[in-house]
Amino acid sequence: MSTHAIAILPGDGIGPEVVAAGLAVLHAAADRFGLTIRATEYPMGAAAVAAHGDPFPAVTRDGIRHAEAVLLGAVGDPSLDAAPRHLKPETGLLALRAALGVYANLRPVAAHPALAHASPLRPERLAGTDLLIVRELTGGLYYGEPRGNDGQVAVNTLRYTRPEIERVARIAFEAARGRRKRLLSVDKANVLETSQLWRAVVTGMAAAYPDVAVEHIYVDYAAMRLVTDPSSLDVVLTENMFGDILSDEAAVLAGSLGLLPSASLGAGAGLYEPIHGSAPPLAGKDVANPIGTIGSVAMLLRYSLGHPAAADAIDEAVAHALGTGARTRDIARDGDAVIGTREMAARIVGRIRQRTPAGSAGTA
Ligand code: IPM
Ligand code: MN
Repeated sequence: MSTHAIAILPGDGIGPEVVAAGLAVLHAAADRFGLTIRATEYPMGAAAVAAHGDPFPAVTRDGIRHAEAVLLGAVGDPSLDAAPRHLKPETGLLALRAALGVYANLRPVAAHPALAHASPLRPERLAGTDLLIVRELTGGLYYGEPRGNDGQVAVNTLRYTRPEIERVARIAFEAARGRRKRLLSVDKANVLETSQLWRAVVTGMAAAYPDVAVEHIYVDYAAMRLVTDPSSLDVVLTENMFGDILSDEAAVLAGSLGLLPSASLGAGAGLYEPIHGSAPPLAGKDVANPIGTIGSVAMLLRYSLGHPAAADAIDEAVAHALGTGARTRDIARDGDAVIGTREMAARIVGRIRQRTPAGSAGTA
């Protein structure tokens, strides 16, 4: 029987609570499908600065080397807003992504029918929305050198190489193949040379994917399209910074930032995290929505452990919980009974455990 080693990075704010919820669901799915999980916790973010003076300390860097996948809660704390760059939790997160080489960040956004009320879009605009943002994650402005700020002049560098564009575009083309076969590549090719290269590379690759319909649009128009016609979008491919911005915009379509999962993939271990932040005011109150993290656990099972049945069971259990009225405060309407982080996780765990195992659970 194989044991799956998972590194757990709870991080800051609501991170530890949503990760505890995600782990409970991971263990329930593992029990039902006969997987053995060895989960080991490591410090990350402001919590790691407090304990080790480094947001991504050596103990964590070593720990993730032996892991098949990494589950992260959230990082960030207002106490470090003015800290030097090397002590910022966000710097640690960027270093973690670089260490894992996870160049493709997958952010699926789907409208759940039971939550149409929570979306800022009218239900008829939202209906049928089911898109996947593929964001380049280890290049572009976030990592480009030179960079700096001397108080008078500040510099960041936007640089992309052909291989960097090709490898993330390949993930997007393949994802489109498994979905509705439409790929929207987002750039700013009317202004930026990096975008002109981006567009040329994606156009060149399209010949190898004749079954995928490719469209190129500018990022400003993409921002509009996301709110005016989201159901027309399938896979959206874009560079790091544009993807950061567009994915927050897309996230509100679903009704709450707390619902959305992500997977970051490269050649080795994958990184799985909800797309929300550490939300310090909500920390320790059992109010955060754990569904983004629970969905990230499903993606971990799907992409890193190669267990789509377990992933499907989690997604089904989430849909069932929402469909039967489970509401954390962020997705509740006036008069709804509001439950906490732990109770939401318990309902999802209950659903997973209640379903009879498909096939021969107990062996692996
Ligand atoms: C995200 C976050 C991060 C990013 C921050 C915390 C560095 O906003 O994962 O989208 O910009 O990538
Ligand atoms: Mn972001």
